[in-house]
Amino acid sequence: MPSIFNSTILFMKKILVIAALLGLTFACSNNRSEKKENPEGDQAAIVDSASSPAEGVGKFKHIDLAANLDKKMADGGKTIYDLKCSGCHKLTTEKLVGPGWKGVTQRRKPEWIMNFVTNTDEMLNKDTSAQAMLEICMVKMPNQNLSDEDARKMLEFMRENDGIK
Ligand code: HEC
Repeated sequence: MPSIFNSTILFMKKILVIAALLGLTFACSNNRSEKKENPEGDQAAIVDSASSPAEGVGKFKHIDLAANLDKKMADGGKTIYDLKCSGCHKLTTEKLVGPGWKGVTQRRKPEWIMNFVTNTDEMLNKDTSAQAMLEICMVKMPNQNLSDEDARKMLEFMRENDGIK
């Protein structure tokens, strides 16, 4: 038979869980309109997003990088950057519309970057760390329609920007 003490503890635990759920719901309310009606749904969403892989969401599961830079590929990336990315991304750490790219190859896995730039919408919908960025930037990066090859060039250019030679 549970004592009053035990049931008080149980009650407090429940309050804590509910508070945590409410906090998360609030923090993510900007861009997640889907199924927020019931607590089970929330719980499922949280468990799901908590397990976002560091590779992100998309078809790139494993990318082999050479130790050295492929200068030709990086130059191709620079051309695309000037054309399609420089309006929102600086090459320093400074945020413009999106985060500055300095250090991006250290804070993200190459697979994550490739998935993000080729599968932007799904990443922003499903990947927790992409969502965390969206919370800060308040603007959804539009899909840039990059081919896989172009995306790989972008990654090489980011590597160059981060000091790979
Ligand atoms: C209209 C503005 C805009 C353009 C153009 C744009 N981005 Fe973004 N980008 C963003 C925003 C904003 C974010 C942060 C996530 C969000 O809020 O959607 C972001 C995030 C990123 C990130 C993750 C950065 C990090 O710190 O983890 C990468 C990588 C990226 N963009 C690559 C690109 C590439 C490559 C291009 C060009 C082909 C590009 N972006 C063009 C706005 C833009």
